[in-house]
Amino acid sequence: MTLRAKGQKRDGRERPRARARTRTHGSVAVYPGSFDPITNGHLDIIERGLSVFDEVIIAILVNLDKSPLFTVAERVELIRETYKGDRRVRVDTFSGLLVDYAERVGASVIVRGLRAISDFEYEFQMALMNRRLNPRIETVFMMPAEGFSYVSSKLVKEVFQLGGPVNELVPAVVERRLTEKHGAARAAAVRARR
Ligand code: PNS
Repeated sequence: MTLRAKGQKRDGRERPRARARTRTHGSVAVYPGSFDPITNGHLDIIERGLSVFDEVIIAILVNLDKSPLFTVAERVELIRETYKGDRRVRVDTFSGLLVDYAERVGASVIVRGLRAISDFEYEFQMALMNRRLNPRIETVFMMPAEGFSYVSSKLVKEVFQLGGPVNELVPAVVERRLTEKHGAARAAAVRARR
């Protein structure tokens, strides 16, 4: 038996180096969440998603149990504004099972961000439950840049409401809307910090 070097064809000629496959063609991924509000950490994951998939659908869960800061319509608007003109990103809402929604919109992948080990257990359970519900849908985890590993919508809201700066944590449109909506309470908190 003749041993061939890696990259060598059966006839002994060099095989052209395989082009790195960083993108799957016609692929649609769903990026689900509450996005109350969308943060720069989310944007980082969306960018990473777009480097692998052709289209990313940002799917906002309509959750009647929670009392959000922004209504679903406001969250849709903020994300649309952030991705204005980018045809690779769609914004939508869903209720019911995520895998049913993914199937309906023709997505075979769910993208989720993993910031730290603390995210892992919940994400692992969700991924396995989703696989049980629909084995055709795969969950892909993406790690944000380290600088976003501590950023969450919940902390952004808290910091803003207590008068701290959030300008490097959320898109400008979100910061503006936070100020419009909750500016008075924040102004009082800013004064109290002095
Ligand atoms: O931003 P979040 O709150 O971490 O997002 C959670 C979300 C929306 C991904 C999750 O709650 C979800 O998928 N809900 C839909 C209901 C569902 O499919 N549940 C069963 C799968 S675990």
